[in-house]
Amino acid sequence: MGSFSLHASCLAKHNLPWSNGCSQNLNSLRIPALQQRGPGFLSRKASKILAFYGLKSPPYALDALEPYMSKRLLETHWGEHHHGYVEGLNKQLEKNDILYSYTLDELVKVTYNNGNPLPEFNNAAQVWNHDFFWESMQPGGGGMPELGLLQQIEKDFGSFTNFKEKFIEASLSLFGSGWVWLVLKRQEKRLEVVKTSNAVNPIAWDDIPLMSLDTWEHAYYQDYKHDRGKYVNAFMNHLVSWHVVTARIIRAEAFVNLGEPKIPVA
Ligand SMILES: [Fe+2]
Repeated sequence: MGSFSLHASCLAKHNLPWSNGCSQNLNSLRIPALQQRGPGFLSRKASKILAFYGLKSPPYALDALEPYMSKRLLETHWGEHHHGYVEGLNKQLEKNDILYSYTLDELVKVTYNNGNPLPEFNNAAQVWNHDFFWESMQPGGGGMPELGLLQQIEKDFGSFTNFKEKFIEASLSLFGSGWVWLVLKRQEKRLEVVKTSNAVNPIAWDDIPLMSLDTWEHAYYQDYKHDRGKYVNAFMNHLVSWHVVTARIIRAEAFVNLGEPKIPVA
């Protein structure tokens, strides 16, 4: 996952990352993912082509989720907050161009730095999180998951009602700002509800996210004031895209053998 847009003005003004200063920077970071890239990585960067991350649009019009999420809220949440994370990340990368050429997934994992986040982590993760969140919703969403996904939820949570209660309870009990996720635990081969604070994203410890809910106050205050419960229920009953979640778990099955029931591809 990740989006790039070329920014011509940066081609001329940046110091090259293989200068002495940046080599020291690279050594001090001691990032395994960088070291695994080998010498070819640095020579590829010698092309001097640098990239900025772009602001991805939600996959629907800004008024398409009304009345459950207003155009006014999306204009602020996407147009200002999400946009701000993109701009903040690009500004940081201007100063630390050793992190160029990563996909957004890689950037989130590398800057998480095993729980000692680098300065770029918050903006990188918030860009990832918001791209994923917009795609977790659709006009006319909510309702019940499709059959294969429903069976997997019933297998791991006992029933869809249990899952829903657990997800809502996690959303309401999350202190402060953060995110609630339905993830596939890669090692345990099961679904789980997890909550993370601030920008933290479970791909940092190799969970596979399937859906997410933004519980930062900026995600609902304009429509629901302090009533997070009303917002969470609107998300579950009218916004979450089970089609997208199904597509994500089908993709995840390429990496994790869930056994039976098998999620049908079509
Ligand atoms: Fe947000």
